[in-house]
Amino acid sequence: PVLVVDFGAQYAQLIARRVREARCYSEIVPHTITAAEVAAKQPVAIILSGGPSSVYAEGAPSLDKGILELGIPTLGICYGFQTMATQLGGEVARTGHREYGSTAVTLTDASSTLLEDQPTSQTVWMSHGDSVSKAPEGCTILASTADTPVAAFADEERKLYGVQWHPEVLHSEHGQELLESFLHRSAGLPGDWTPGEVIEEQVERIRQQIGPDAKVLCALSGGVDSAVAAALVHRAVGDRLTCVFVDHGLLRKGEREQVEEDYVKAIGVRLVTVDAREQFLGELAGVTDPEMKRKIIGREFIRVFEQAETQLVAESQEDGGDGIRFLVQGTLYPDVVESGGGSGTANIKSHHNVGGLPEDLKFELVEPLRTLFKDEVRAVGRELGVPEVIVARQPFPGPGLGIRIIGEVTQERLDLLREADAIVREELTAAGLDESIWQCPVVLLADVRSVGVQGDGRTYGHPIVLRPVSSEDAMTADWTRLPYDVTARISNRITNEVDGINRVVLDVTSKPPGTIEWE
Ligand code: XMP
Repeated sequence: PVLVVDFGAQYAQLIARRVREARCYSEIVPHTITAAEVAAKQPVAIILSGGPSSVYAEGAPSLDKGILELGIPTLGICYGFQTMATQLGGEVARTGHREYGSTAVTLTDASSTLLEDQPTSQTVWMSHGDSVSKAPEGCTILASTADTPVAAFADEERKLYGVQWHPEVLHSEHGQELLESFLHRSAGLPGDWTPGEVIEEQVERIRQQIGPDAKVLCALSGGVDSAVAAALVHRAVGDRLTCVFVDHGLLRKGEREQVEEDYVKAIGVRLVTVDAREQFLGELAGVTDPEMKRKIIGREFIRVFEQAETQLVAESQEDGGDGIRFLVQGTLYPDVVESGGGSGTANIKSHHNVGGLPEDLKFELVEPLRTLFKDEVRAVGRELGVPEVIVARQPFPGPGLGIRIIGEVTQERLDLLREADAIVREELTAAGLDESIWQCPVVLLADVRSVGVQGDGRTYGHPIVLRPVSSEDAMTADWTRLPYDVTARISNRITNEVDGINRVVLDVTSKPPGTIEWE
């Protein structure tokens, strides 16, 4: 693999993704990793990520010095660049001023494989306080900015490279080219990895973990991750897998049918649907507080799932089997990485993941997507034949429409919202916007009413909010500038076709300060 050494913040994940976009398999490792541990992983290249610290700060993350002596092509980025500079005998100065944001950089030497063929002047993304003031011996300075004389260096002989800017962010014009130059030219990697390679490897792994007889359970949510995870496990163990789908009544239009019909037909999994719509509505009656709603939905989901599980286990034992020992989870790589580090982050919302089941469920977990990013899960799903309606699905929160009705959740309101949401999805798809939009929550302001006029009568209906956002990872987002004609069509259709909605409004808030969902 290409090892991405994590110096904190969120840079490492983005780098790991970019490396995979360059068709090289990447893995994130903590900066505390030792040279021996690195060597054992037999990496073909190493990238040192940026991080939030100053190399001079007390307790600043450091790197085992031996790592740079392993003879593995290494690229240091930002903090990683400075760490590298210090370790190789260069100097890092506290300049006292920060260089932050889009910055003009001038390439002063084109001899290195890292930056050859790149334009001499370009815009890059910077975010640093300290600067490398003296390049280590043997390193050629490749670039500078107005404030930073040593913005990049290379030691072609030892295959050690570093840049002060962040090539992994899109604001760095030629960032991806730089990463690809490092991987393909400096490190000589062919770049022929595809997410599909994961399939065979995982099928083998799953078979080993589960063994020849044991049975497996999977909670399908209707979303991409659980569907692809189940398809992989099904490929490995066939009918020893049973999927459970909980219809909590907070689903979007057609969602249950897509799972029950399209998905089952395509993959051939055994599916048990539990209709718990009344139970959820009952528990949610009278509740308006967002956190309360989230807690109730999470709790009821677990209840329903546990009942189904108990019943399935009993059935399996009656059949002479030994119950069900394994549970499939659609955990993705970012979840794995995030739960490894990161402390003290504020709880903004208590996220409920369908499949986010309590630990005291007595199962061993099967997590075949643990090494994948979202877009890679989609690619794997397509190869496995998971229907496009599911694979291409945009993120949808576990608590579903329950947190898109501002106010109490009732059957009538759910029906209204479901119709409006279906229209929005239809129009966005028809306009070819699915790829450019991260997701578009449709929110019903159930306790707000406004006066309107329709035909020749007065109406007193509810507004619907469109919340189209663009994002790379949902951590930050910007509101999407939808074409006016698309917004107009959506507005016309909703107000005409959904009785009770007489106004459509557009949310033009980025995240932060707004979150993507309204609750
Ligand atoms: P926010 O509203 O926090 O949402 O900006 C970020 C992303 O997470 C999704 N989301 C959830 N997903 N369970 C989920 O599985 C949840 O409880 C949940 N709440 C929000 C949201 O749709 C967006 O993609």
